[in-house]
Amino acid sequence: MPHEITIHSPATLSNLGCGFDVLGLALSAPYDIITLRRAAKPGLVIRHFDEYNLPIDPAQNVAGVALQALLSAVNDPALGFELDITKGIRPGSGIGSSAASAAGAVVAANEWLGRPFSKLELVELAMHGEALASGARHADNLAPAIFGGFTLVRALLPTLDIVALPAPPLWVAVVHPQIEIRTKDARAVLPATVPLGLAVRQWANVGGLVAGLLIADHALIGRSLEDYIVEPARAALLPGLAEARARALAAGALGGGISGSGPSLFMLCADEATARAAAAAMGGVYRELEIAFLLHVGPVAGQGARVAARK
Ligand code: HSE
Repeated sequence: MPHEITIHSPATLSNLGCGFDVLGLALSAPYDIITLRRAAKPGLVIRHFDEYNLPIDPAQNVAGVALQALLSAVNDPALGFELDITKGIRPGSGIGSSAASAAGAVVAANEWLGRPFSKLELVELAMHGEALASGARHADNLAPAIFGGFTLVRALLPTLDIVALPAPPLWVAVVHPQIEIRTKDARAVLPATVPLGLAVRQWANVGGLVAGLLIADHALIGRSLEDYIVEPARAALLPGLAEARARALAAGALGGGISGSGPSLFMLCADEATARAAAAAMGGVYRELEIAFLLHVGPVAGQGARVAARK
């Protein structure tokens, strides 16, 4: 057994416009840094080395809850872990902060134990953390955080079914306006039912986006990113959304929208120069609105949470 394992667990985008709760992708940065080592006693000890004052009680911490689920599955009453978490991803940013911590914790323990769990099983375990964070058991951030690349969560029940989607190399521009939107609140504004006509347009776009990725058709990817159901309901929560999208498209982005439940916005782009131009264009909107913002630009990451160091 190694003394300790350090994992880099990436930020992720979920929904990808049309694919509410089912589509996602892994970013190359930012990422959480999670170090796991065996504890002297059974149970979990969590420490945070960042500025966010997240709970360290394992029952209130997304990584703790996920890791506890893994420990229950291992069923070794003598086993305990220490977990050091340095968050590179701001909580509440809409780029999979809770998923990164939960994914990183279970991937670290799996590595420490000699990989008894499949990636699919790790997503299942980490979903306990997502349930704590948002009140909903969803895997659209966890799937790319663990599998990397683009992912489709085809089903949660009766068994979890995740499809890793082949895709051409793509770049992502993310703007993170410094406003707070809680996932619970962003889910509360969603319609309980959807008119059939809108549902038809939406699933046509999901098919179009998946096909566009598989056949590397940038134009098809771009026009399929549109969300007719969720984004219209959430748009009022996000100042600057329409203008930021318009300017990013004018800068050459393929398309994009709200990242997860917001407040970040994302744009998919064919190359780095376009992604930088789209990020700058979106940033300009928030500068004019006098809302502070962060920008992230990087390629879609082929790999999810990965071992960065092993001692
Ligand atoms: N798919 C989820 C949502 C992601 O949009 O509510 C939240 O992180």
